[in-house]
Parts: sequence; C-alpha cells; structure tokens
Amino acid sequence: MQEWIDNIKKCDSLEDLESLRIEILGKKGVLTAQFAKMKTIPNEEKKLFAANLNQQKTAITAALEDQKTLLLAKELEKELESEKIDVTKFEPSKNNGAYHPVASTLHQITSYFQNLNFSVEDGPLVEDDFHNFEALNLPAYHPARDMQDTFYCNDKMVLRTHTSPVQIRTMMKHKPPIRMVAPGAVFRKDFDITHTPMFHQIEGLVVENGDVVSFANLKFVMEEFLHHMFGDVNIRFRPSFFPFTEPSAEVDISCIFCKDEKTNKNKGCRVCSHTGWLEVLGCGIVDQNVFEAVGYENVSGYAFGLGIERFAMLIHKIGDLRSLFESDIRLLGQFR
Ligand code: DAH
Repeated sequence: MQEWIDNIKKCDSLEDLESLRIEILGKKGVLTAQFAKMKTIPNEEKKLFAANLNQQKTAITAALEDQKTLLLAKELEKELESEKIDVTKFEPSKNNGAYHPVASTLHQITSYFQNLNFSVEDGPLVEDDFHNFEALNLPAYHPARDMQDTFYCNDKMVLRTHTSPVQIRTMMKHKPPIRMVAPGAVFRKDFDITHTPMFHQIEGLVVENGDVVSFANLKFVMEEFLHHMFGDVNIRFRPSFFPFTEPSAEVDISCIFCKDEKTNKNKGCRVCSHTGWLEVLGCGIVDQNVFEAVGYENVSGYAFGLGIERFAMLIHKIGDLRSLFESDIRLLGQFR
C-alpha cells in the first residue's frame, strides 16, 4: 500500500492522478479486485480482512484527495502568475498628448514676463462697456471703436475685443507700482485666413509712482522680449495710434521667412508682403486719460498688447491661422 501512496504523492498532473485513482479504486482497480476476493476468504478471517481493506481504501482516498488539493493550488498559482498585472510598471505611451501650439506659446510668453516679476492677471470674457472701451479712452462717439468689430451681448455688455480691459480691472484693484500681464481669449467679428472670431492676446502693463517711466524703458523690454522669442532679428518701432497710449508704436521684426543668411538682408516674400518686415505687437506710454479713469494720480507707465496666434504661427511656421482651431490630430501631433 505504501508504494501506492508514494506514487500518488509523486504525481504531478491532475490527469495522471485520475489515471492512478482508476488503476487502484476503479471498477477494475487493484484494490477493488481485493474486495472481490472476500468471497473466497474463510468466514472467521473475513472481519479482519475487510477491516484491513477498508483501512487501505480510506488511506488511499485521503492521499488522492490531498494530492488533488495540492495540484489544484499549484495550477491556480500558475494561472495567477501568468495573468498578473504589474500596476507599478512604467511603459512610455506612444500616443502622448502635448500642449496645443497656442497654449505653449501663451505659456512661453507669460513665463518670460513672470521671470521679470510681472504678475499674471485675469478678467471676464463678457465685459462691460466701461472696462472694454470707456476707461481705455474710447468714449462712445470715438471713431476708434470702429477699429474693433465688436460682438454685442446687449447695449451695455460685449465679448471683450481685447485683453486691455484687464489693465483697468487690475489698476482699480491695486495701487501702483504695477507690473502685470493678462493672457486670454478675445472676440471679434472677423473670419478669413488671418482672422478668427476668437483668438488670444496677452496684455502687459507697467505703472510706477511719479514721472519715471519712459519710452526707452518700454523699448528696451520689448526688444529683449522679441529677441528672446525670435532670436537674432532686426526690430523697428513705427509710430502708430491707440486710444489708450500716447505716444504709441507698432513693432515689427525683420521677416524670419526670407532672411538671406549670407548678406543678413531680407529679400521679401509672401508672408511679409515683400516688405521684409512682420508686425508683431502694439505698445505705448499709457495715456493720462486712462489713469484718470481709474483714479490714479502722479503716475507713469507703459503698456503693450500682442496676438498669441500670430506668435505661434511665426514660431512654428504655420501658414493658415484657421488650422490652429481645427483640432486636426495630424497637425497637433507635430508639436509633441
Ligand atoms: N488692445 C490692442 C488691440 O487689441 C493691443 C494693444 C496695443 C494693447 C497697444 C496695448 C497697447 O496695451 O499699448 O489691438
């Protein structure tokens, strides 16, 4: 009997174990055959013989059961091992998301000014007439209101046409000195290859107590900023007009698409309308009427404003502004 039990314990598969069970306890099994012998045993020995057989049967049945339990546990363990998921394993994704070029340009410009200790301010997209126009020296009768194709919500509220109203909100909330930028969405009734009804701007404002801020300060900061963004470009300030600044300038950089590397001169191309220059921002010395509207006295400052999409298009050499808003994954995938 011990031999059978040893064989059972050596068994390493459920199929082999079942064969062994049939071999011992099946209809034609060796132990079953012993039971058949009962008939031939003399009566007085029957009791002992039967007790002995039953004992063997119990021991073998128990050994079979134990081995079965062991093999089932081993099988389960194997299964768990092969199906195991390592939740801590790091697999770099092949389809990583990335910042939209407008968002990354916005972050880049904002963080440039944050490094110069400018704060980042915010304002509502639905703006009132006072903040969007009136306080920025754009009274109702002023023809400069026509410069901006405004979406009116009603006769008092508009979708803000620029980020300049955040200047007003910030000055009404804080005392000078102020150094702030305000990035965000703006809205105008306009739609062609260079205009979309929603786009982004960043507004900048510096205000100091006393008559200390000069155009030279503004010029220096703008030149440093534009060299940071576009590298080695030429920069020119062109006299211009904005109601909220006096004097005002528009700033151009030499065209980054048609510069001749040898002569360092611009040949002119379609992007710069063959002028060799690209307009990139507006700026100026804050008009005293603006300070008056927010109740500031004896202060001086400069302001600037620029379109984020224009910067993104120039930095990434994107041809059509509208492609920035089409959410085409083939385009966006190039900016990972
Ligand atoms: N708000 C102007 C616009 O939307 C941009 C601008 C120009 C802002 C000159 C300024 C500035 O602060 O000084 O076109």
